[in-house]
Amino acid sequence: MPPRHAGCRTFIVHARSAWLQGLSPKENRDVPPLRYDVAYQLKRDFPHLVIAVNGGISSNDAIAAHLQHVDGAMLGRAAYYQPLLLREWDARFLGGAPCTLSVDEMEADMVRYMEREAAEDGTPWTAIARHMLGLRHGQRGARAWRQVWSNAHLKHLPPTEVYALAQQKMREMARDIAPLSTLPQNH
Ligand SMILES: Cc1cc2nc3c(=O)[nH]c(=O)nc-3n(C[C@H](O)[C@H](O)[C@H](O)COP(=O)(O)O)c2cc1C
Repeated sequence: MPPRHAGCRTFIVHARSAWLQGLSPKENRDVPPLRYDVAYQLKRDFPHLVIAVNGGISSNDAIAAHLQHVDGAMLGRAAYYQPLLLREWDARFLGGAPCTLSVDEMEADMVRYMEREAAEDGTPWTAIARHMLGLRHGQRGARAWRQVWSNAHLKHLPPTEVYALAQQKMREMARDIAPLSTLPQNH
């Protein structure tokens, strides 16, 4: 039962119970069964509390479905590996304006951030780039783009040059992938 007198009103409920013996933290994110119904029941039993659900949510449609039952949804891996999912959130879930930034503009913003962090703290761009590798998830040429941004041999280059190289490789690769409509037909 939520601690009535402790003053906490917001609960993020992990839909998998962690098995503290026998499973690693990584396995605990996949192995125990997802029990969203438990979080939904908590909301029905304690409607005055803010209940959010976490675990295994990997699309914006899934978020919309959960919001029929609870007040919020928390995403871990999907937000990390497919950050473009967040692009819809302001407009779709939070009553905000649609995001108008293109992926190229987001990448350019990240490059400015890398430059700032390098100037202020000496942080190498590689420490930041490794966390943005999901930015082009599912996009043509994404693999070539990721290979540039994760290439430690380029560490000495300024991030603006790595950006230019990543863009170039991505576009070359995307050009080499024939669109489906131009592939020869079997019949
Ligand atoms: C990169 C990453 C870092 C995480 N760091 C933490 C953490 O510091 N503390 C924590 O309690 N959970 C952490 N988690 C677990 C998430 O909060 C979340 O509970 C878990 O990933 C299950 O949700 P998901 O299926 O949406 O990934 C992390 C998950 C990821 C992917």
